[in-house]
Amino acid sequence: METLYSFLVVGHFIGLAAIVGPFLVQMRRNENFAIAAVFGGAITQLATGILLTGLAEGLDRDLDYAKITTKLVIALVVFVAALLGWLRARKGSNDRSIKPFFHAAGGLALVNIILAVFW
Ligand code: HEM
Repeated sequence: METLYSFLVVGHFIGLAAIVGPFLVQMRRNENFAIAAVFGGAITQLATGILLTGLAEGLDRDLDYAKITTKLVIALVVFVAALLGWLRARKGSNDRSIKPFFHAAGGLALVNIILAVFW
């Protein structure tokens, strides 16, 4: 169980990197956003976060559920923004119309990192 928990934490960090990495590299761009990586990262964060929460319960780890709920709500918004951006990219929409979704997903993931560490 402990090893599984550690693997999930690794997955949680990889998902985080897949969102925040492209965002930091491409935040000043106006085209060719790596929105598919951000979308994959958003799915990973929801899946690993929910599994970590369930496992933490089983391992008797103390979690702050107000913090987890806040992170979950923000992660859902990150997911919806990434999904909408990804769908637009798949339809071949103008890159400028993808930019707000890319920025919303990346910026809110940064907010979640700050919450995870400081709360
Ligand atoms: C964009 C989404 C997310 C980001 C950027 C993020 C970021 C982080 C970070 C940086 C940590 C390490 C904190 C530390 O060890 O001090 C962490 C841990 C954790 N996250 Fe997330 N997270 C996200 C979404 C979620 C979601 C949706 C859940 C659950 C519903 C969740 C549950 C957890 C749990 C259980 C831990 C380990 C326990 C803790 O220290 O709070 N995370 N997350």
